[in-house]
Amino acid sequence: MCGIIGYIGQRDINTVLLAGLWKLEYRGYDSAGIAVICDGEIRIRKSIGKLKVLADILDKEPLSGNIGIGHTRWATHGEPSQENAHPQVDCNNTIAVVHNGIIENYLSLKESLVRERHLFRSFTDTEVIPHLIEKYYNGDLLEAVRLSMNKLSGAYAFAVISIREPDKIICVQKNVPLIIGIGEGENLLSSDMLAVLGLTRKVIVLENNEMATLTRDSVQIVDIEGNEVIRNPTIMDGKAIKIDIAGYPHFMLKEIHEQPKVIQQNIDKRLKNQIPMNSTFQPFELGLSESELAKVGRIIIQACGTSWHAGKVGKYLIEKFCRIHTEVDISSEFRYRNPVISGGSLAIAISQSGETADTIAGLREAKISFIRVLSIVNVINSTIARESDDVIYINAGNEIGVASTKAYTAQLFALSLFSLYLSKLKWLMGEEELTARLSKLMEIPDKMQQVLQRESEIINIAHKYYKARNFLFLGRGVNYPSALEGALKLKEISYIHATGLPAGEMKHGPIALIDDQLPVVCINPKGSVHEKMMSNIQEVKARKGKIIAIATEGNVEIANIADDVFYIPDCPESLSPMLVALPLQMLAYHIAVLRGLDVDKPRNLAKSVTVE
Ligand code: AGP
Repeated sequence: MCGIIGYIGQRDINTVLLAGLWKLEYRGYDSAGIAVICDGEIRIRKSIGKLKVLADILDKEPLSGNIGIGHTRWATHGEPSQENAHPQVDCNNTIAVVHNGIIENYLSLKESLVRERHLFRSFTDTEVIPHLIEKYYNGDLLEAVRLSMNKLSGAYAFAVISIREPDKIICVQKNVPLIIGIGEGENLLSSDMLAVLGLTRKVIVLENNEMATLTRDSVQIVDIEGNEVIRNPTIMDGKAIKIDIAGYPHFMLKEIHEQPKVIQQNIDKRLKNQIPMNSTFQPFELGLSESELAKVGRIIIQACGTSWHAGKVGKYLIEKFCRIHTEVDISSEFRYRNPVISGGSLAIAISQSGETADTIAGLREAKISFIRVLSIVNVINSTIARESDDVIYINAGNEIGVASTKAYTAQLFALSLFSLYLSKLKWLMGEEELTARLSKLMEIPDKMQQVLQRESEIINIAHKYYKARNFLFLGRGVNYPSALEGALKLKEISYIHATGLPAGEMKHGPIALIDDQLPVVCINPKGSVHEKMMSNIQEVKARKGKIIAIATEGNVEIANIADDVFYIPDCPESLSPMLVALPLQMLAYHIAVLRGLDVDKPRNLAKSVTVE
């Protein structure tokens, strides 16, 4: 939920720390700060608000030095303020720390440290770390950090500098990712790959309960007992580095428009030479054998937010094509509900970032029950990817906008293809039907492009409703999750209260909300529940709700009922969520822009929720 960076080497410390923080800002932007060792002192600059505030301060009052740490914050404990901004220091400003994660036992630690007359200045959980290190420091900074780690409970990654040993940075991680970049005469650390790859492609992923000491010319890793760990660096693919906004006003709009290309790239990668169908159809490289997959009797999907919505679409697809009982859990519920897991079950974790704490915990919960875990992930080598038995990468590229868009439709593509593949393995779908369905899947990029070319229609609708205080999104069947996703997109970037509901549920209470001020997005493409949904739309109409319909081209009837209609190209019902998502994303985007909000960095949010 926060981003930490550390650097030691010969470059200008302001430039290199800020460059890293700009790449980490999507993880949290309530406050930012850096600490540098200069002339035997720790010097700090920090500010509340987005990184630009800190950048302006450093522009006017740059720090000098070649060793430093930096932080961009999503507040967990203690409101966004100057005092609560990181770095946090010990009593005499000899030790500085930046931290990502949560120290669960910070209150008891703080009470005992205050009793020992330590001077606290913030309301953060983080501040106990420099004071613990100060308490345990006895001439060996690494040992003091190790002893402190033994006192901390929770999930955390932090970096430490101290004037007592001014030629090194020490960093540690426990269940929160930390990447180390190896340079020539320089080394750095970061919460994720993006900030490291800007400087070097030689990386080491620190594992759980490991500590690393970075000097200009060395990186040494030890485990929590102090035993040396030998780990060879990985040379990452340089292509992953490229992040540019490509002339768009926001990353979110760029990523909305990237979706046809992302799906096409996945088609090229997974379906090349697979059509016409032959018996060797194998779109995924899985450790699970085809016979093991064919025996799967139950699937449990767990995820959060938009990924959970993708999982709910996945349920419809898997049950429709594979006839496998499929449950879909929100990860933060799954991990505590002690699920009944039987043999022959497969757990599927879905996550764009691969770092969502609740989903990681759900994955570990599933593994305790000895069932295989397949994850559907975007970020290569992320924690979820590394800890799963099998991974399906969605190849959506870096998604910077906090509101997930291209990753969502790439997740839906992966789930669509997986359900067809599993159906074939279970002898439930013949080659002729499979070929036909795969051919329809391959038409999606063009159909997405057709939708995106009519963005101006969405802009007109956005102009009509951007001042609304509430929205309702209705869908049925495989597009009930589309209603949830449309509501989430709108609320998280426009701050308008929005609810997604299964349309059949309206009459059981929510219909009381309908009046002539309430915009109701009714998702009703061609499909098995189309007529039922038309009835629900009539119910809304009868109560003067403002109807924004999403329908399949050629549906003239709906135009006579709805106040606005956005048409999507004809496609199989099972694939319609991939097309429905685009007008929903564009509607949320343009409403947020009309409301003058920061679309890519909405308030209170962060791109990767690495704390529970
Ligand atoms: C989606 O627009 C939100 N930003 C959020 O709900 C997100 O989907 C959720 O936090 C899960 O993230 P993940 O896919 O990286 O696990």
